[in-house]
Amino acid sequence: MASGRQLFSSLCIILLHFVCLTNSLPSFSRTLCIDDTGNFTTNSAYKTNLETLLSSLSSNRTTFPYGFYNASIGQTPDAVNAIAYCRGDVEEDECRQCVIDSSHNLKQSCPNKKEAIHWSDSCMLRYSSRSILQKVETGPRNVYCNTDNYTDIGRFYDLLRNLLDKARGEAAAGGPFRKFGTGNATDPGFTRMYVLVQCTPDLTEAQCNGCLDTAATFIRTYCYARQGSVIFTPSCNLRHELYPF
Ligand SMILES: *[C@@H]1O[C@H](CO)[C@@H](O)[C@H](O)[C@H]1NC(C)=O
Ligand SMILES: *[C@@H]1O[C@H](CO)[C@@H](O)[C@H](O)[C@H]1NC(C)=O
Ligand SMILES: *[C@@H]1O[C@H](CO)[C@@H](O)[C@H](O)[C@H]1NC(C)=O
Ligand SMILES: *[C@@H]1O[C@H](CO)[C@@H](O)[C@H](O)[C@H]1NC(C)=O
Ligand SMILES: *[C@@H]1O[C@H](CO)[C@@H](O)[C@H](O)[C@H]1NC(C)=O
Repeated sequence: MASGRQLFSSLCIILLHFVCLTNSLPSFSRTLCIDDTGNFTTNSAYKTNLETLLSSLSSNRTTFPYGFYNASIGQTPDAVNAIAYCRGDVEEDECRQCVIDSSHNLKQSCPNKKEAIHWSDSCMLRYSSRSILQKVETGPRNVYCNTDNYTDIGRFYDLLRNLLDKARGEAAAGGPFRKFGTGNATDPGFTRMYVLVQCTPDLTEAQCNGCLDTAATFIRTYCYARQGSVIFTPSCNLRHELYPF
């Protein structure tokens, strides 16, 4: 996976969340500065706490042995809570670099927001003044739909459902550090399908199952009959395509 950003031809609909149509998904980077939880000011304790947290995250001493990181700094109402995790098959060095890049990105893009999320193909970083650990949140979301559609929809969704069920079970049972599942399968005369699912590892098994169930409903909602889709939510993500990724 390239760490650089590429532009690609796509149509994006920006609502409360993003929905993009694209025929390929090279490495991407998407930032969401969240307005609802408010702003912080230049001299606030929140700003100091956030800077401390982000710089500790960006230190090369921070380790990501399981590709997961959480931290809370400060006291309510100035406490900052952060979660970072990497795609389950990303090596520790790449993971650390991805989280560092995300933290720079958030600092620049959301200079005064108490809450923000950054998604890229290798990692997610979010922070908030709210407590976010062990909570299932499926919005705001970031969705990419493959522009190519599929005609044999019944068969397509049967295969997809089976694959997602298996991968979801694998991810949800994944323990406190890594909740990641992949799969691929084909029917005779049918192209091979690939899926990947992941939850933030702090979720319980039931929470992870619930988050991925909800995320799976977005496939039809946003990307009906598309050959592939990528759904990112704060607590889980999933992807399916007719090619390995
Ligand atoms: C927060 O800051 C933005 C500018 O970044 C401003 O448009 C908005 O009105 C501010 N919201 C509040 C509640 O102060
Ligand atoms: C961390 O960075 C410092 C300065 O940038 C460097 O001197 C040190 O060797 C680095 N440590 C590791 C473990 O990479
Ligand atoms: C894809 O969808 C569009 C619009 O829904 C339709 O016009 C087109 O025929 C479809 N293509 C295939 C290959 O199914
Ligand atoms: C497809 O699945 C097989 C067996 O389940 C696995 O060995 C293989 O690595 C998978 N391929 C990809 C590209 O994920
Ligand atoms: C969050 O981080 C703290 C401190 O590093 C650690 O003790 C705790 O186990 C982590 N929580 C989860 C759910 O991973």
